[in-house]
Amino acid sequence: MDWKRERSGSPCRKLLAEAQEITGDNSMEKKAQDSRKGAPHRAVPPAVGLLFSMALMNTLLYFCLDWFFISRPRSAPSSAHCPHGHFRMGQMKNCSPWLSCEELRTEVRQLKRVGEGAVKRVFLSEWKERKVALSRLTSLEMKDDFLHGLRMLKTLQSKHVVTLLGYCEEDNTILTEYHPLGSLSNLEETLNLSKYHGVNTWQHRLQLAMNYVAIIHYLHHSPLGTLVMCDSSDLPKTLSQYLLTSNFSIVVNDLDALPLVNHSSRTFVKCGHRELHGDFVAPEQLWPYGEDMPFDDDLMPSYDEKIDIWKIPDVSSFLLGHVEGSDMVRFHLFDIHKACKSQTPAERPTAREILDTYEKVLNLLRETVMSQTREML
Ligand SMILES: Nc1ncnc2c1ncn2[C@@H]1O[C@H](COP(=O)(O)OP(=O)(O)OP(=O)(O)O)[C@@H](O)[C@H]1O
Ligand SMILES: *[C@@H]1O[C@H](CO)[C@@H](O)[C@H](O)[C@H]1NC(C)=O
Ligand SMILES: *[C@@H]1O[C@H](CO)[C@@H](O)[C@H](O)[C@H]1NC(C)=O
Ligand SMILES: *[C@@H]1O[C@H](CO)[C@@H](O)[C@H](O)[C@H]1NC(C)=O
Ligand SMILES: [Mg+2]
Repeated sequence: MDWKRERSGSPCRKLLAEAQEITGDNSMEKKAQDSRKGAPHRAVPPAVGLLFSMALMNTLLYFCLDWFFISRPRSAPSSAHCPHGHFRMGQMKNCSPWLSCEELRTEVRQLKRVGEGAVKRVFLSEWKERKVALSRLTSLEMKDDFLHGLRMLKTLQSKHVVTLLGYCEEDNTILTEYHPLGSLSNLEETLNLSKYHGVNTWQHRLQLAMNYVAIIHYLHHSPLGTLVMCDSSDLPKTLSQYLLTSNFSIVVNDLDALPLVNHSSRTFVKCGHRELHGDFVAPEQLWPYGEDMPFDDDLMPSYDEKIDIWKIPDVSSFLLGHVEGSDMVRFHLFDIHKACKSQTPAERPTAREILDTYEKVLNLLRETVMSQTREML
């Protein structure tokens, strides 16, 4: 049973067909037995055979649904991206140019507020009978961050970033695709809803952690260079910068604080101008000169993208949650997460190395579950 490793075709369809054949054969056998009513000995009572085939069907269905859910986002048709300055979302067939100020003013109807941060107030809105998210600048003081975020959104459009639908610098508005499940802060509440119980498994949650690390990898190797996700001084803040899509993957939404690191020109960054505290942020982000010396931004050393790596174990652990199997995954990620928490930034792994490890663990544990199932049968 090698189909788990296959990427193309639909091994599930084949397996299900085989399973149907088995149950089909069985009912034919049953009919045959029924027609030979007088025959005194039956090897297996038909009910037992039927139960067995149903159990087999269920097991196959379980794994096939799993395969379906995990693989689908990878092969989504909309992952073929539109040319720069265009977008496509949901069931749209063609790419459409970003909406202009005029179109934003006349075609978008603001419905209700769904979120707010320091820079933007976000409204669920309607455009041509589609749900969209309209972000408005909260205060003119934040205009620079707003424009930086917009520039990033325009340049970084990809499967990792929320889809930009239009903007109007004059009105301080940005229109993006609306994600009804909201930010990652809502993850536990969302997965607790009975209609999502089926995806509240260690497999899907590890897949989310892989999505997250893939976004960090993308930012560290972006078309603009190495970008650092600065808007992440604690776990809830970090989670609020990412959205959960309806098909259970993650996109980054808030790109307002993404400074550039350039190792060859020795350009490093500082996330904000205020003192940071706590152990969610990397140790090099803390004031290094002790309590006796008051914080002074000019004396505060700068740092590089490895601050994002330090935070990965905490975000991943939140994403893994506390379902059956979560702790088994945590156990297998122990070494790589320990390396992320190295005090020396240069000793921390890259996002690519973490992603590779996650993928290996996912495959290893799937194999284990598969062979256990085979033994049970
Ligand atoms: N496209 C969207 N679909 C659904 N909800 C969204 C969308 N965009 C934003 N939100 C909600 O609005 C919240 C605030 O958005 P965002 O992080 O962009 O604001 P901000 O002012 O830049 O935040 P910060 O204080 O981190 O700078 C998000 O955490 C999310 O809950
Ligand atoms: C997955 O979600 C994204 C974002 O909402 C959407 O664009 C895409 O069409 C979805 N893919 C599938 C297969 O549903
Ligand atoms: C999940 O739902 C149960 C009952 O349905 C409730 O008791 C619990 O508090 C919920 N947990 C979260 C994290 O929402
Ligand atoms: C980084 O700096 C080097 C040397 O100054 C320069 O050549 C290169 O273009 C810079 N890279 C980016 C992405 O800005
Ligand atoms: Mg935010």
